[in-house]
Amino acid sequence: MNIDEIIKGRRTVKKFFSRSVTFEKILKILDAADHAPSTGNSQNWRFIIITDKKTKKSLVSICDNQKLIEESPVVIAVFSDNLKLKTLFGDKADFYGIQNCAAAIQNMLLKAHDLGLGSTWIGKFNEEKLKEILNVEFQDPQALVCIGYPERTNKLEREPLNYKIFYEKWGNKIRDTNLWPVSKYIPKVSNQVKEFIDRRIKRESNSK
Ligand SMILES: Cc1cc2nc3c(=O)[nH]c(=O)nc-3n(C[C@H](O)[C@H](O)[C@H](O)COP(=O)(O)O)c2cc1C
Repeated sequence: MNIDEIIKGRRTVKKFFSRSVTFEKILKILDAADHAPSTGNSQNWRFIIITDKKTKKSLVSICDNQKLIEESPVVIAVFSDNLKLKTLFGDKADFYGIQNCAAAIQNMLLKAHDLGLGSTWIGKFNEEKLKEILNVEFQDPQALVCIGYPERTNKLEREPLNYKIFYEKWGNKIRDTNLWPVSKYIPKVSNQVKEFIDRRIKRESNSK
């Protein structure tokens, strides 16, 4: 698959087949995550690979009863370890921690698709309860990523890209800002007209 096929072909999975996923493929997905960019090369992402049925069942109840979690063969919990980030960036640590992990998660989804798998990014969960279930003390929960072979995927359409793009300043929908505002050109045009009239007058007076 080329990059466009991977990016555009990936869709959130709504239902997984029960077929299991090899550990080799899981490692490839995490290796892709580990190649994401991160502030100060902090690589603050941490992963817990969950295949245990009982654990997955307990996760459903703290994720707004999303049954998909229980049905997916593998769930990867992503946490941010902000220790290094706090030393490097102080108050900005949490902000960067989230962004770095989001980049890693997106790599996971794309790699899963590349491997013929599907994925679902789960962001709706009780943070404290998730930490409790997985014995996490200090790290910040970011997401659960469900992985498996897709039986049914999301069908939601994209809004038009044009709706989301502005040029140079918020709200400006005209691409070549040199053309806007038109008033910028009025002095230039009026000068050219004036020069043209002056030349005509001069020519005519010379010919008399
Ligand atoms: C931060 C984040 C949290 C999300 N949380 C959930 C979730 O809890 N449950 C779910 O089914 N999908 C969740 N999604 C998936 C979105 O619903 C999905 O990406 C969106 O509908 C667009 O569909 P697509 O991924 O097929 O392009 C989440 C996505 C993101 C980026």
